[in-house]
Amino acid sequence: MGKVLLVYATMSGNTEAMADLIEKGLIEAQASVDRYEAMDIHAELFNDYEYILLGTYTWGDGDLPDEMLDIAEDMENLEFAGKTFALLGSGDTSYAFFCGAVDELEKVITARGGRVVLPPVKIENNPEGSEEEELREFGRQFAALCRQPAE
Ligand SMILES: Cc1cc2nc3c(=O)[nH]c(=O)nc-3n(C[C@H](O)[C@H](O)[C@H](O)COP(=O)(O)O)c2cc1C
Repeated sequence: MGKVLLVYATMSGNTEAMADLIEKGLIEAQASVDRYEAMDIHAELFNDYEYILLGTYTWGDGDLPDEMLDIAEDMENLEFAGKTFALLGSGDTSYAFFCGAVDELEKVITARGGRVVLPPVKIENNPEGSEEEELREFGRQFAALCRQPAE
């Protein structure tokens, strides 16, 4: 399989901590990973990858944070047929739309023909305890699914 692209937005580090654990799982499953913060890339980078993991925290009232909103808007001009995605995010259940930004990203991906192969992983604030293993397993599973031919 080709390289996995892992892109995430984080403000206080929780989504980054999730990305760290998922990256460990990917590497355990012998995937190679290119990893970037959302603010450092443009959506056109997605054209270079078949396997893409996107992570974001949620802002406002279930909204995408600005750095991921820019990417999501540019994604409207891309074609994702043949690409395999999975999504991750950190949020806070005291807000009305827990991890709403993750759901927004999923809508854009599927509308552009992308295949989302796992239920998005949503974590309350910072991953801890059994969530750490859950996230590593998510990375391993994504790598395994990327090796399977699309139906
Ligand atoms: C102004 C503000 C608005 C937020 N709105 C939401 C929200 O609508 N839904 C949600 O699940 N979390 C919301 N959060 C919580 C953050 O998404 C959460 O703290 C997350 O862990 C931050 O991730 P990060 O450490 O990667 O930046 C909000 C936080 C702030 C400060």
